[in-house]
Order: sequence, then structure tokens, then C-alpha cells
Amino acid sequence: MRVPEYQIGIMDERVEKYLSSLARKRDAVLHELEIDAEKRSVPIVGPLVGNVISIILKSANAEKALEVGTATGYSGIWIARSLSGERKKLTTIEVDPKMRRDAEANFQKAKLSKYVEIIAGNARAIVPELVKKNLGAFDAVFLDVGDKTLYVDLLDPCISALRTGGFLIADNTLWGGSVALSKDKSPETVTIRKFNELVYSDKRLEAAIIPLRDGFTVAYKKNQ
Ligand SMILES: C[S@@+](CC[C@H](N)C(=O)[O-])C[C@H]1O[C@@H](n2cnc3c(N)ncnc32)[C@H](O)[C@@H]1O
Repeated sequence: MRVPEYQIGIMDERVEKYLSSLARKRDAVLHELEIDAEKRSVPIVGPLVGNVISIILKSANAEKALEVGTATGYSGIWIARSLSGERKKLTTIEVDPKMRRDAEANFQKAKLSKYVEIIAGNARAIVPELVKKNLGAFDAVFLDVGDKTLYVDLLDPCISALRTGGFLIADNTLWGGSVALSKDKSPETVTIRKFNELVYSDKRLEAAIIPLRDGFTVAYKKNQ
């Protein structure tokens, strides 16, 4: 059987297993969500990336975060738990009603509901509108919308949403390694490739792609 090119992989499985063996045990809420994601194929960030997001948000003393793509609330729980300050809040956007219901229940289980607002609808329309009213209001933005062809269109609003010194984090930016295969011209691959070029060349940002799991981007918004 022909192995699709996009499965070239990023990390050696043995290294990923080793890293997983070092990862701290998660509490029951996150642990159950990891099992549920495996069973239902929900594409969550998983503990290795969740852990890095948590370190970034804590080191930035993040109080307000925006997430695009809630799913069941797994990454949202990592994010909300890493926020500090009296007005700490995660705003997270999800188009799928079933996912939203699951996320609501999971934020409740994690006792985080009062710190989380789930906005229902399509991020393509919601993000630019939300950002217009909240320019520079967020300490961190996590871009993980399922429709990866939105990454380029949402990049500028996401940067505008950040304060100076804030972080843009975007998941799946190596897209199974396919971004490195010039023959791969699928809309997702082409968009993510373009997104990566824009992020690396944007003068407002200092960016790096971390080749962990499916690759994720960490970009710091500089003082202009
Ligand atoms: C990769 S999952 C998010 C995973 C989550 N961040 C985590 O790690 O736990 C992407 C989510 O984006 C949602 N989604 C897809 N297209 C969307 C759109 N246009 N607007 C808002 N949400 C969208 C999907 O329904 C899905 O739940």
C-alpha cells in the first residue's frame, strides 16, 4: 500500500514516547479528555503541547487569552489554568454546537466556567469583529481552528488582537510534514506554508516553529 506523502511524520515515535513518559500526570478531567479524544478522534493538542502553552502563558503573566477552535475544551483547560490576575479570562470560538456543549460541560468539570466565554459561530466572521473591539487586549492568542485554510486570513486579526509582548501560538504548522513537500498542493498545505512565510517575515513578530507533535508556532509580538 502506498503511504501518503503527508505522513512523513515530524518526530520519531520513540522520541515522542520518551517525552510522553516524562510528562507529568494530568488530573482526571484532562486525562479523561485525552482518552475521549483518542476514542472519537478529536484533534486535541495533547499533553506535550499543552505543557509548552502553559509555560509560555505563565511566563507572560497572561491574564486574557483568545482561542480559535475550542473542540472539547482540552487546550482551553490548559490555557485557562495558566492565566493569572483578577480579571483572567479565556475567550474561545467554536462553530460546532456539539463540541460547544461538550466544552461547556468540561469547563464546568474543571471548575473554570467563570473564567471562560465560549463564542458560537464561524471564526472567519467572528475573529475580525471581536478584534476590532479588542485591539491589543489579549496577552495570548491560540490559533487552532479546524479549517486550516483560514490560517492566512486570520493571521493579521490575531496579531492585532495581541498586546506588545504577547504571544501568538498556532497549532499544526508543519501539517504532518507536508509543508516541506513542494509537490503537496492541497489547500491546507498551501495555506499553512503561506502562513509560516508570513509569520516569519512579519516585522511585528519574532517567530519559531517547534517541531513537536504536528509542529506549532510560537511568535512573540515585539515592541515596534
Ligand atoms: C483542532 S480542533 C481544536 C482542538 C482544541 N484546540 C484542543 O486542542 O483541545 C479544531 C476545532 O475548530 C472547529 N472549527 C472548524 N472550523 C471552524 C470555524 N470556521 N470557526 C470556528 N471553529 C471552527 C472544529 O469544530 C474543531 O472543534
